[in-house]
Order: sequence, then structure tokens, then C-alpha cells
Amino acid sequence: MESTDARTAPAVIVAIDGPSGTGKSSTSKAVAAQLGLSYLDTGAQYRAITWWMVNNGIDIADPSSIADAAGKPDIVSGTDPAAPAITVDGTDVAGPIRTQEVTSKVSAVSAVPEVRARITELQRSIASAAVQGIVVEGRDIGTTVLPDADLKIFLTASPEARAARRSGELKGADVAATREALIKRDTADSTRKTSPLAKAADAVEVDTSDLTLQQVIECVVTLVEEKRAAK
Ligand code: DC
Repeated sequence: MESTDARTAPAVIVAIDGPSGTGKSSTSKAVAAQLGLSYLDTGAQYRAITWWMVNNGIDIADPSSIADAAGKPDIVSGTDPAAPAITVDGTDVAGPIRTQEVTSKVSAVSAVPEVRARITELQRSIASAAVQGIVVEGRDIGTTVLPDADLKIFLTASPEARAARRSGELKGADVAATREALIKRDTADSTRKTSPLAKAADAVEVDTSDLTLQQVIECVVTLVEEKRAAK
């Protein structure tokens, strides 16, 4: 498909939210790469701050200890969709933030309001610096971080489809156990007090259960190009 020339197209801010296992990261990266936009994985930022808390002996069960430490780590996110990078105090943590330990603790850390305030500020400054525009993926991007985004997408999929995809990514992990862990994390992310996982009223919902990744990418690219054409 012929895309609008990224150098002449107006900058566009795209928010892609939804639970894990909906194809959010793969879709967001591919759409950004195809349209010449920057890309920000906000889940990686919450994972990075969680990784720092774990490595610095912060008691994850104590929200006030997490809140006191929230301003300490220096988190830097790359915005190239072809090579998403993330460092904490200069250390590359792209691998370590995907461990089971970080995954099991990230919901508790990301529910702390001081953590959200810190990370939200970072996200807004990265988005405002993206001159060609940016695809930002997460849970609260359309509702809280970038409520004025040009386009908001909310990806969903059945728990079965999400668990099957996640266990595939985790190279054959048990599907039933993955499904339970996903549901537990989604419930925590959706029911927390501060900016929970939620669909913005003006978001376009795309159910990816029966779609291939390529179909989802094409659908989102078309929606972005329509928005750009209307600007
Ligand atoms: O997308 P992910 O699975 O890497 O995200 C990890 C966690 O970070 C997720 O369980 C909830 C949290 N998160 C959040 O609270 N807000 C965001 N915008 C993105 C992620």
C-alpha cells in the first residue's frame, strides 16, 4: 500500500491501549515503522521502574516505599520502532524487564500514584518532542496521558486468544497458567484507582481475536491515514 510521505504529512499522535496479548506492541511498532512515526512502549517504562525497585531492595508490598523511591531512577526510552531501547541509570534493561519476576510485580508498582505521575510526565515530554508524530501504546494513553491524541485505538481479544498468543511468545508456556496470570494482571490494571486500563469514550475498538497481525496493522494504518488526510 502506498503511504503518505512521512516528511510532508502532518504530525499525528496515535494512542493504542488495551490489555496484554491483544497484539498491541507488534501492531504499534509496525504501524509506526510503516508510517515513519516515533514509537513509545509505556509498559516498558513501568517495567523499568519496577526492575529498579526490585534491584534496589524496595518493598513492593509497601506503596509508601515505592512512592518515596519513584523519583530516583533515570529512565530513558528510545523511540525508534525498529529498535525500541530502554535504559535505567544508563543500563540497558530491555531484556531484564521481561522476566517473570518483573511481570508479576509491575501491576503493584504501576498502581502507585507517584509512579504514574512520574512516568506520565516522561511520556508527555517524549510525545511532544516527536516532530513527525508518534504511536504511544499502553493502558491509559487515550484516557489520561494524551487525551487530545488525534486517534485513539482500543485493542481487545478474547482471554483464550490472548493466552494462546502470550504462551507462544513465551515459547510454549502453559496456556492455562498464562491465561490465569493475564486475567489477574488485567484485573489489577483495570481496577486500580489511578488511571486504570480503560477505553476512552472516543476510541475506536478493534477486536483482534479472529484477525491476523497483518489485518490489524492494515486496519490501524488505514485509520491513521484517514486522520492525517483530514488534518
Ligand atoms: O504492556 P506491558 O504488559 O508491558 O505492561 C506492563 C504493565 O505496566 C501492565 O501490567 C500495566 C502497566 N502499564 C500501565 O499501568 N500503564 C500503561 N500505560 C502501560 C503499562
